[in-house]
Amino acid sequence: MTADKSARRCLAVVLAAGEGTRMKSDVPKVLHAIAGRSMLGHVLASVSAAGADAVAVVVGPGREDVAAEARRAVAAAEIFVQTERRGTAHAVLAAREAIARGYDDLLVVFADTPLVEPETFVAMRARLAQGCAVAALGFEAADPTGYGRLLLDGGELVAIREHKDASAHERAVRLCNAGLMALDGTKALALLEAVGADNAQKEFYLTDAVAVARAQGGSAVALVAPETEVMGVNDRVQLAAAAAVWQGRAREKAMREGATLVDPATVWLSHDTRLGRDVIVEQNVVFGPGVTVADGAVIHAFSHLEGAAVGRKAQIGPFARLRPGAKLAEKAKIGNFVEIKNAAVGPGAKINHLSYVGDADVGAESNLGAGVITCNYDGFFKHRTTIGEGAFVGVNVALVAPVDVGAGAYIGTGSVVTKDIETDALFVARPKPVERPGWAKAFRERKAKEKQGG
Ligand code: UD1
Ligand code: MG
Repeated sequence: MTADKSARRCLAVVLAAGEGTRMKSDVPKVLHAIAGRSMLGHVLASVSAAGADAVAVVVGPGREDVAAEARRAVAAAEIFVQTERRGTAHAVLAAREAIARGYDDLLVVFADTPLVEPETFVAMRARLAQGCAVAALGFEAADPTGYGRLLLDGGELVAIREHKDASAHERAVRLCNAGLMALDGTKALALLEAVGADNAQKEFYLTDAVAVARAQGGSAVALVAPETEVMGVNDRVQLAAAAAVWQGRAREKAMREGATLVDPATVWLSHDTRLGRDVIVEQNVVFGPGVTVADGAVIHAFSHLEGAAVGRKAQIGPFARLRPGAKLAEKAKIGNFVEIKNAAVGPGAKINHLSYVGDADVGAESNLGAGVITCNYDGFFKHRTTIGEGAFVGVNVALVAPVDVGAGAYIGTGSVVTKDIETDALFVARPKPVERPGWAKAFRERKAKEKQGG
């Protein structure tokens, strides 16, 4: 996305003071996540991509957690507290100090409306650059009940009427207010201060900025977005619906950039998932945050990846789990029921069946047999395992870390490795096999006799 880095300076005021009671949650609404990022984080990313030079976040009293998340997303975010909820215009004015610094564009956005695209904010800003005092964002509502209505006269936006204040005639209008607005930053403060609370809810409505701007000689326009883009989230059903919209977009983007999703609806992406060209993702794959997949890699069905980097032409799964810190080099192969955590797997290395490899470095072209386990935790500390290039680790080997396996070493099946192994050595640590011809038969006969006698 090409952010608007024109000479116009922009402040985004993000309203996040809502209580979100309908979420029925101990977590504030705007911290609930879509694709591994809070709704607030999505909104901040979007306004930043739209070229906002400064961000002011309006939070409710005592909401240090919301403030912290805002700062995590945008380090320089300013936090303002709205102590009393007296309406959207009142909420924006909580950030008066920031607005008063004087920006060209003022974007007002809601932290519980997480799907608005940067392009939409850019388009709203463009209308300000053309001389409008206010640009509001509208949508054709499937059910307009409860929304403010955009009242148009030709190309001009004349007023926004809240549902509760609207006449029957006005309620028949389907073009609704999404709530977000762009205001001429040089006039914004005068405009917002002129908003009164003489309405059905006795609140200071941001929407009144339209009528006020016109009364002050300015003009207002409405832009129209798809309803899915401007959907607000008030409960968990809407959260899931918004997440589904987000996933749909992300899957499409991944496919347009050259990844094959065999059954797109079953692949769940995170906000930062990166899939290269000719990556194939089979059915029912979940990407947690922090995953990159290089060109030509294949993620087989039912795999779960998080905080992992998958190298070129690597193969993962089916049924594999990559946890944070898994780094797979080119053509590495991770098979079914294998878990990799905080481990670097070298080029062409194979860990194909039923293994746990954690806190390890696995050399290029090495082969770990079925059931190889790195015993990385002693109950108090984690320790590292190093496996050299071309090593062969037999089936069911337990590597008790810290331990080094030399390059080219060969470890016999079932060994418990408690010491370092030299380069190219054979290492076997298991009881000597015992075989006594006829013993079992004799044993059965003896026991059968004892049983009859007793
Ligand atoms: C608002 C719009 C309405 C629009 C609708 C879209 C106004 C007056 N109305 O109505 O035209 O159709 O959004 O969803 O703007 N907030 C605060 N402090 C407050 C009040 C609100 O921070 O004192 C925040 C809320 O947390 C929320 C946003 O502002 O994120 C919108 O507030 P909300 O109460 O949902 O407004 P609506 O009545 O839905
Ligand atoms: Mg609302």
